[in-house]
Amino acid sequence: MTKKYTISVLGGDGTGPEVVEQAIKVLSGTKKDYDLDLNFRESNIGGDRYLSTGELVTESDISQLNKSDAILLGAIGHPKVKPGILEQGILLNLRKKFDQYINLRPVVLYPGVETPIVNKTYEDINFVVVRENTEGLYAGAGGFIHHGTSQEVATQESINTRYAIERCIRYAFEYTKSSGRKKVTLCAKTNVLTYAHDLWERVFYEVAEEYPDIETDYAHVDALCMWMVKNPEWFDVIVTDNMFGDIITDLGAMIQGGMGIAAGGNINPNGVSMFEPIGGSAPKYTGENMINPLACIAAAAMMMDTIGEKAYGKALEEAVKRVASEIPSLSAGKMGMGTNEIGDRVIEAFG
Ligand code: IPM
Ligand code: MN
Repeated sequence: MTKKYTISVLGGDGTGPEVVEQAIKVLSGTKKDYDLDLNFRESNIGGDRYLSTGELVTESDISQLNKSDAILLGAIGHPKVKPGILEQGILLNLRKKFDQYINLRPVVLYPGVETPIVNKTYEDINFVVVRENTEGLYAGAGGFIHHGTSQEVATQESINTRYAIERCIRYAFEYTKSSGRKKVTLCAKTNVLTYAHDLWERVFYEVAEEYPDIETDYAHVDALCMWMVKNPEWFDVIVTDNMFGDIITDLGAMIQGGMGIAAGGNINPNGVSMFEPIGGSAPKYTGENMINPLACIAAAAMMMDTIGEKAYGKALEEAVKRVASEIPSLSAGKMGMGTNEIGDRVIEAFG
């Protein structure tokens, strides 16, 4: 029986629309063996609409997005809009509105892809970061006192609820179990964040007791950055808070070959999840047929996997892997092919 899915497509800003266009082309060109009916519903959320109407995300956007099985996002960030407005008003807002409490970011070096770390291969760089995606320093708690004066005070508090920590850590263990991985490392800073990360550490070991077959480990975030470069093979699944997860996954993207390949999922296991290439809107490449769409296609593969089409998601990822190994570089403009041609190549490589 044909399975029907509605995918909301939010191209957004800069090169976002170009890369989602390729992802849709690839999905449309490869879905037939899996008997899927994919209904793509485009949304004009983004910097251009904000500049012309002042709207970021409206109630009607939310109810539309809510009717879909998943959201595929291109990029948010517009050179004519002050930094922070679109990020807060769109990206972080959607993550919170849909309670996408996990940011899942695989750091996998595909065979044939170059990493800046000498002497490390795809056998060494293969782990997944589970980033808490709703609170911590991203909760928006804090404010100014005496704003604009010489006595000005600014506070920004890290909010850490047992509820959110526990569901994040539990997700990390469940993910480890279901994906056949073996070990979960908690990344925190318990030696300095003696309240917030003390709670993280206690909850981590409490939840770990329910998973006796899964190995546990702990690393302070600064040391973990060092080991991600020196001994990336030590990591399997890393669970961490929102801010540290943001930082270590940019480092992760670099060791897996760059922003051209790094994909992530903002996941609500019981709701609408949103998938995105993590590289941003790259304004200088907009409209040039130069940006690498593989990260967005990989995000679409993750999306299919998460909504229940595991075999199809895997086959799509394999096609991305094949194309990634064929091209001389994953960086924009250096792929030896255009954005469009890479999309075509993934369709040919599929199956
Ligand atoms: C990311 C981005 C966002 C974040 C920005 C754009 C708000 O860097 O998805 O990692 O910090 O989460
Ligand atoms: Mn980031």
